[in-house]
Amino acid sequence: MAMQLALLCLVILKLTPAFASTLTEGYGDDPGCPFGSNIYQYTCPEAEAIIFSWVEQAVSADSRMAASLLRLHFHDCFVNGCDASVLLDDTQDFVGEKTAAPNLNSLRGFEVIDKIKSELELVCPQTVSCADILATVARDSVLLSGGPIWEVQMGRKDSMTASKDAANNNIPGPNSTVDILVAKFENVGLTLQDMVALSGAHTIGKARCRTFTSRLQSSSNSDANIDFIASLQQICSGPDNSNRVAHLDLATPATFDNQYYVNLLSGEGLLPSDQVLVNGNGETRQIVETYVENPLAFFEDFKVSMLKMGSLGSLSQSNGQIRRNCRIIN
Ligand code: HEM
Ligand SMILES: *[C@@H]1O[C@H](CO)[C@@H](O)[C@H](O)[C@H]1NC(C)=O
Repeated sequence: MAMQLALLCLVILKLTPAFASTLTEGYGDDPGCPFGSNIYQYTCPEAEAIIFSWVEQAVSADSRMAASLLRLHFHDCFVNGCDASVLLDDTQDFVGEKTAAPNLNSLRGFEVIDKIKSELELVCPQTVSCADILATVARDSVLLSGGPIWEVQMGRKDSMTASKDAANNNIPGPNSTVDILVAKFENVGLTLQDMVALSGAHTIGKARCRTFTSRLQSSSNSDANIDFIASLQQICSGPDNSNRVAHLDLATPATFDNQYYVNLLSGEGLLPSDQVLVNGNGETRQIVETYVENPLAFFEDFKVSMLKMGSLGSLSQSNGQIRRNCRIIN
């Protein structure tokens, strides 16, 4: 176990040399792993079990919740690092991120985080950060949906503020071209490869019609799958379609597998930003083809990229805190 963890740390440091210096700075709880590994091992040994059981309960009541919780971590990490800024409600001092365009009427799962935090505050007060909770629920959601498992690197701090502007600017939109997607990922320190692997998260969950309107005009997509487009038109037609949703992966909507990439090759990607990965760029298409042929390669790459995304900005903030309530700074 310790050996595996040490290896994992080595692998991650090797893959992300850019982060290595910030990560090793001022973070010395375990000389074998500068990432901190499980810093709650002694201070809150029940933390991961408590988190897992709430996620399990939420996902068994609503299988889509796995997708929603995974997405929360992504939308947190892309805005000034993984610091739970996404969970803050608006205050007199700042406007939170919940009303930013990518998040408004879209992010789900805040109540699940609240329940987890409440129990953790009873068992070990002010010990487990909201940002670590988000990273852990993301891992648990993937696992419960049939995906890979990895060891969450703990030790993130919670922010004292939020940025609606950064949420609007940093989180890519569904109409993005490959170049824009790559630029938004590179902007936070992730690669084209990370972008294609992490897009595989769209193997679970749903999207509202408004996010894929440009996929509804089959004439504008010469190589689109006609039946697929017709089924989307059906879902989104008629009055009051603003809250209608379609599965991001029509074939296995609640299972974390490589089917998302299979769909792309048959023109059945839901979002424009999904379909461009095979129609817009040879380099991304090649990675998609690899994941279609080799599901384990997708799982491996997804793990590595989730760990990279989960380490963004997490250890460089000296002014972080452990919030008592994830919606409000202490
Ligand atoms: C590559 C750029 C990405 C774009 C343009 C994008 C865009 C979107 C959009 C527009 C939706 C639908 C939202 C709605 O209609 O309410 C969505 C859903 C989702 N996204 Fe992404 N996303 C991207 C990357 C990611 C990444 C990196 C992850 C996680 C690692 C992720 C996880 C999800 C999940 C799980 C859902 C479904 C959520 C639910 O059902 O509640 N996405 N995404
Ligand atoms: C995407 O582009 C279409 C036009 O092709 C537009 O109607 C839609 O509002 C855009 N969606 C977003 C989220 O920007």
